[in-house]
Amino acid sequence: MKGLILSGGKGTRLRPLTYTGAKQLVPVANKPVLFYAIESLVSCGITDLGIVVGDTREQIVAAVGDGSRFGARVTYIQQDAPRGLAHGVQIAREFLGDERFVLFLGDNFLRDGIQQFVERFESDSANAQILLYHVPDPQHFGIAELEGERVVRLVEKPKHPRSNLALVGIYFFDHHVFEAVAHIRPSFRGELEITDAIQWLIDQGYRVAAEVLTTPWIDTGKMEDMLEANRLVLETLAGKVEGEVDDRSRLVGKVIVAPGARIINSHIRGPVIIGANTEIVNSFIGPFSAIDHDCRILNSEIEHSIIMEHTVIEDYSRIEDSLIGRFAQVRRSPAKPSATRLLLGDHSQVSMP
Ligand code: TTP
Repeated sequence: MKGLILSGGKGTRLRPLTYTGAKQLVPVANKPVLFYAIESLVSCGITDLGIVVGDTREQIVAAVGDGSRFGARVTYIQQDAPRGLAHGVQIAREFLGDERFVLFLGDNFLRDGIQQFVERFESDSANAQILLYHVPDPQHFGIAELEGERVVRLVEKPKHPRSNLALVGIYFFDHHVFEAVAHIRPSFRGELEITDAIQWLIDQGYRVAAEVLTTPWIDTGKMEDMLEANRLVLETLAGKVEGEVDDRSRLVGKVIVAPGARIINSHIRGPVIIGANTEIVNSFIGPFSAIDHDCRILNSEIEHSIIMEHTVIEDYSRIEDSLIGRFAQVRRSPAKPSATRLLLGDHSQVSMP
């Protein structure tokens, strides 16, 4: 079986981060969300991977390389524009050949991997297999309607949902999907939709199996989802201190301090991960925070947040539920008149007390 990961797209919901970076490289517990997808495929023995890339190709290639560090072999497939998930499948035709494959959306996060679903699809004669997840707000998802165990209809963001089973961004196909993609037309948003391709398979009498996922799944398209994925991973990590912690500091619960990091006169309440060469001075870092490498946090309090690399936060109490990009600077200024002074990119969001 081969793996196809989609890592292009527009990423409008994660602006401004996606103006400068690929959303699939936003870190979850200091590791790009895309790496979790690669690792889950490799751990099932799926090592021949295609990655569909768009404008952010260079960054993805710089981060993933030829895949050898994951034990995989990666082929990059360029998508000229985000023309839809099914378009991503179409342009990977040559790479995929006639093999059965897993389609994994590069921003989808599954805490517990896909082993059982891979085994099921390998041993089954179904032409496609979808994963479904019970959601409280089906109006916001692609929803599957079942008759018994049979999938009869897929509906995008239904106003009056007939089920609360959302389509997870991990799909299994055989080569008939190429026939399906060739028959569908772009949707009202101008994209070739994977749900239309699957519906075509159903309508033509191909067998589409469905499995209900009961372990956590997150589509990390928005900030809140990134924070939630971050929380889920941090909960599972074991504490490990490799950096320096001075004797005025207090570490409580599971805390990872990477090599070269320094914790000085600070209180860290886990689960927390502090990246390499980051300095935390006179500060409090609260649960579910991931501070990436080469940051400097001085006289500040941070909780339930993701702070990306090379960011500086000084004299700021208190930051919560936040996602801060690379090389950002947040500091309280004593300059008079006292005022909030901002230099924010387009689509930035600030909410102050
Ligand atoms: P989406 O989150 O559905 O789309 P998007 O990335 O354009 O984001 P937004 O809705 O915020 O504008 O995409 C799911 C995944 O598939 C994501 O990793 C990007 C990728 N993708 C492609 O590679 N090519 C495409 O044409 C599309 C639409 C998405």
